[in-house]
Amino acid sequence: MAVPKVYVTRVIAEPALELIRSEAEVALWPDPEVPPPHAEIVRQVREADGLVCLLTDRVDAEVIATGERLRVISIMAVGYDNIDVAAANARRIPIGNTPGVLTEATADLTWALLMAAARRVAEGDRYVRADRWKSWSPQLLLGRDVYGATLGIVGLGRIGQAVARRARGFEMRVVYYDHSPKPEAERDLGVEGVDFETLVRGSDFISLHVPLSGETRHLIGERELGLMKPTAILINTARGQVVDQEALVLALREGRLAAAGLDVFQVEPLPRDDPLLSLDNVVLLPHLGSASIVTRTRMAMMAAENLVAGLRGERPPYLVNPEVLLNDLVPS
Ligand code: DGY
Repeated sequence: MAVPKVYVTRVIAEPALELIRSEAEVALWPDPEVPPPHAEIVRQVREADGLVCLLTDRVDAEVIATGERLRVISIMAVGYDNIDVAAANARRIPIGNTPGVLTEATADLTWALLMAAARRVAEGDRYVRADRWKSWSPQLLLGRDVYGATLGIVGLGRIGQAVARRARGFEMRVVYYDHSPKPEAERDLGVEGVDFETLVRGSDFISLHVPLSGETRHLIGERELGLMKPTAILINTARGQVVDQEALVLALREGRLAAAGLDVFQVEPLPRDDPLLSLDNVVLLPHLGSASIVTRTRMAMMAAENLVAGLRGERPPYLVNPEVLLNDLVPS
């Protein structure tokens, strides 16, 4: 039986690569920082039985159609909005992702952004480095209180709940909006379900934890920003396109919103001339939600396990499209 071929679009943790190499011949994109161009992915999948990709790779209908031999697609991320699931389903290709393992790291980073935006941590750091600190001053870099404030969580899935759990230590009132009510979480975490508009109007901090879909694209736009308190702070560790970034820039610039903490952007990496870069009241991070050593290693292992299972014709342990008829998949 021929050894299957796998294309891996970035260098991932070595134990994960070892696992993949134990089952397949690996072609690896070598640049650790920059993803392969789309044309390179198309070229590589021609020969590939499996694809390990990242959220930076557009796995569209062209990739899926060209990869005639593809038997599994494994993404090292929980979000898979960059993959054309319908095209994969049409070819009955299973897709695996990495849910759960990055929940706590992403919730931690959400809090890092929330605290940094509220208490102007990044601005303070720039101030010290620029040698502008002359003395302790009663009015210097005053921020917003976190303790006792109202936190509005949009999307009370795993990450939203982990963010809510942390808010208890700050004795916050936590409200949430989710398309399906979460009575258990309400009971366990003491959070209160409200409608979207009530959350947007009443929260001091609004944190987004929804996947990107047709329904959530620009969920926060001009109208919603207009409803927010001018003292409110918006945190986004979900996907950039959930927020209308142009409307956000205007709201931040005009003081209609106090601040924002952003880990994700409409276009990543953030272009050098993006107007967000000229604003002091926004904390910007390069999509670091899951970026802890342990979490990224676990994500890579999960991605490898999904891939290997798919190559063997088995059900990937973290399957996002169970609608593909796995029973009919032919083992290699
Ligand atoms: C994901 O997994 O979807 C995050 O955005 C990156 O870890």
